[in-house]
Amino acid sequence: MTTTIDSILHEHRLFVPPQAFAAAARIKSRAELAALQHQADQDHEAFWAGLAQQEITWQRPFQSILDSSRAPHYAWFKDGLLNVSYNCLDRHLPERGEKTAIVFEGEQGDVQRLTYAELHREVCRFANTLKRLGITSGDRVVIYLPMIPEAVIAMQACARIGAIHSVVFGGFSADSLRDRIEDAGARMLITADGGHRGGKIVELKAAADKALAKGCPSIESVLVYRRTGHEIAMQDGRDVWWHEAIAKATAQCPPEWVGSEHPLFLLYTSGSTGKPKGIQHSSGGYLLGAITTMKWVFDIRDDDLFWCTADVGWITGHTYVAYGPLAVGATLLMYEGAPTVPDAGRFWDICARHKVSIFYTAPTAIRALMKLGDAFPTAHDLSSLRLLGTVGEPINPEAWMWYHRVIGHERCPIVDTWWQTETGCHMLAPIPGAVATKPGSCTLPLPGIVADVVDEQGNSITMPDQGGHLVIKKPWPSMLRTIWGDDARYVSTYWGKFDGKYYLAGDSARRDADGYFWIMGRADDVIKVSGHRLGTMEIESALVAHPRVAEAAVVGRPHDIKGEAIFAYVVLRGSRPVGGVDEALTRELRDWVGEQIGAIAKPDDIRYADNLPKTRSGKIMRRLLRTLASGQAITQDTSTLENEGILLQLQGKA
Ligand code: WTA
Repeated sequence: MTTTIDSILHEHRLFVPPQAFAAAARIKSRAELAALQHQADQDHEAFWAGLAQQEITWQRPFQSILDSSRAPHYAWFKDGLLNVSYNCLDRHLPERGEKTAIVFEGEQGDVQRLTYAELHREVCRFANTLKRLGITSGDRVVIYLPMIPEAVIAMQACARIGAIHSVVFGGFSADSLRDRIEDAGARMLITADGGHRGGKIVELKAAADKALAKGCPSIESVLVYRRTGHEIAMQDGRDVWWHEAIAKATAQCPPEWVGSEHPLFLLYTSGSTGKPKGIQHSSGGYLLGAITTMKWVFDIRDDDLFWCTADVGWITGHTYVAYGPLAVGATLLMYEGAPTVPDAGRFWDICARHKVSIFYTAPTAIRALMKLGDAFPTAHDLSSLRLLGTVGEPINPEAWMWYHRVIGHERCPIVDTWWQTETGCHMLAPIPGAVATKPGSCTLPLPGIVADVVDEQGNSITMPDQGGHLVIKKPWPSMLRTIWGDDARYVSTYWGKFDGKYYLAGDSARRDADGYFWIMGRADDVIKVSGHRLGTMEIESALVAHPRVAEAAVVGRPHDIKGEAIFAYVVLRGSRPVGGVDEALTRELRDWVGEQIGAIAKPDDIRYADNLPKTRSGKIMRRLLRTLASGQAITQDTSTLENEGILLQLQGKA
């Protein structure tokens, strides 16, 4: 990356919060927000401590606020004792026991409702089952389930007994599952026979069996939820049906009080080097971030029906499905399946039938549904919606305007929320009753979040619209604590660039003349495909593991719906296919990557070349490859290329 990146996007439309919305909102004006900001600026620690006292029910109050003595390992509220599941369930029982906690809809149309009392009972029974099977505080439990209430129950049950869950997205392959189980050293795997998605059954148990057959010596038991009812293999002595295991479990399960810093979960995510990182989150700080952002950004109220469409396998499904909505006593909606079953109106049909009031999804879904036409949303009554949100990648102004007009009927504010697996909760986002929005901008840092855009030396860039590195300059409660099993990587990845002073997000960003932030994309080798975060190195490692591949380089190229598509340049062992085309091999390599990582990582394009373009020092010229993949003209210096003819091959012209 050069010192500054010139921005090309200029968007001047401004949408002030609708008066009716602002009048009823928790934070009603820019002045109210400024007062909160002022408190945070005056005393960062006191600000967060005040919120932690107010928002969390502590078993033992904390005395210490922020401990920076082991920076960049920060500890928040470390002598406080709490239980996250207690905060999400028990404390609501007196007032909200009969309130619906979860409305669930399966892909096939089955609907289930769980009140807070029922959810509490199921979590307690399942927690007792985990204990009976030998799981204790600090043990790792891997969860590989479809988007069904049991996923939330399993996560909450782990939290209840102090076990550390690591949820693996159901779309990941057996190999990815095995790597994560092994890295986490998990003792138990919780899965299902399968899930319904896209009209098909996702064979979760079969993938789990394959993962365990190839390794995972730490796994002692596998709990299997019956979702689809189709036939699967059960292994004696290892596999137990969920319904049989909980049959005798009682609903009394006192929460295990843990220190604020006790790890709540690990969640694996991609970085710029090959191996996924087990991002470790805390209990107290994480919970606080989830609660404050539910209130500030989603303006959550008791009568809302909150729907975040993210799968529990991603951080968004952790903070805004499994924890945040429950921690504030809200009603959340979960949907198991694909947005296009039986047709592209499914999301809008669900919103209308259940009366969803807050809807939160990814730009890729918005773009895909926009392409399918306005007839689908306009066929449904969307008048219950009052707030819309997006997350996961930059949203293009065109999609933003469609969301605003066709889904929000120009009545609902849109919160474009920037955050990461590592940050635990929203960091940059509009407060909907207070901050005017601009299509494509995630607007301003939230109170207590000190964000900046800096140059290569770490100096603040004050010139409007000059791009630089997005950094966070002060620790915040919901920040990641380390990378599981690789603390050195934690220190170097996030804190190395600016000598431990700033948290490096890995994104480039600019600020406009109003101080609004615009995310320009990743500054490292991470790509966002349909909002899913993938490391190009991970895909490259998968490719070179194929016997016919000698070398591979993967880059992202712009894609209308997916945001980015995966473009792989491959050098084969032996000769290059005639004319650079070999459809059978391309299919084989795509399936191979699908098996190694998961279908989401299959390259969209594969181009064969005799060589990869490299610098004198042997580094692959990724910028050149990105330019080529996007079909743009080459501006880079290519004089160092050994073989100029390679350029034609890389462009698919030879
Ligand atoms: C990108 C998802 C632009 C960004 C919660 C970040 C965004 C990465 C936005 C983290 C947004 C997330 N606008 N880009 N509103 N939100 N990103 O860990 O590149 O899956 O670094 O967390 O997504 O992806 P992750």
